[in-house]
Amino acid sequence: MKLVIVDDYDALSRAGADWLIEAIQEQPEAAIVAATGNTPTGMYIELAQYRSRGLVDTSRLRVFQLDAYLGLPPDDHRALFSWTRRSFIEPLGIAEENVVRLAGDAPDPWEACRYYEATVHEVGGFDLSILGLGPNGHLGFNEPPSPPDASTRVVDLTPESIVSNGRYWGGEEQVPRQALTCGMDLLLKARRTLLLVSGTHKHQIVHRAVEGPQTPDVPASFLQSAINVTVLVDWAAWRGQ
Ligand code: GLP
Repeated sequence: MKLVIVDDYDALSRAGADWLIEAIQEQPEAAIVAATGNTPTGMYIELAQYRSRGLVDTSRLRVFQLDAYLGLPPDDHRALFSWTRRSFIEPLGIAEENVVRLAGDAPDPWEACRYYEATVHEVGGFDLSILGLGPNGHLGFNEPPSPPDASTRVVDLTPESIVSNGRYWGGEEQVPRQALTCGMDLLLKARRTLLLVSGTHKHQIVHRAVEGPQTPDVPASFLQSAINVTVLVDWAAWRGQ
């Protein structure tokens, strides 16, 4: 695990974009799983600016949705697919046929999880994984406790995740209580991972994830044993002030 500490959120977004550009230039058709959340937003904006200046071709990436609320159609404003579309797929010029949804609105969501897993296996697993860190140590919606072999599945959200995700949608009552998440097993096998962490509120959890014991209670701690993981943290998160 490589730890890179940068000054602030802007520096994090720039450093993340540089990391991604290098990876995309090496492998323009990379299979990438891309997190939503506030943390990677600045990095995606940077990346889109590089693309619009013709400095990187992002249009051939094959994108996999990381997580989805159960029961929301993809065009619901809270659906994480619509967030991925706004922040990643459209600004980076990726065609819809190169996007694999985790279908939270499928009649049989467990079947949707199996289909997603089969599709990831078909492309040989993820080349790139872009992750944020939940306040409770979750990756995607792999809520604690999640062992390293946890599959892609339907999960109950923890009260902590419901509260923290309420800020995106104007209150916790807006947040569905269940979700689908790409499993730990697929995430931990990605060939390259970038974990982004910003802000004082992530101080304790980032230290537990990076330096603490590897435990299902902090799912992100299993990244310590994964290959080619870069953790990009700003000083606010690292120092807690
Ligand atoms: C959400 C999402 C995660 C995201 C995390 C951190 O619950 N399910 O995919 O990475 O929380 O979000 P943020 O970057 O806004 O702190």
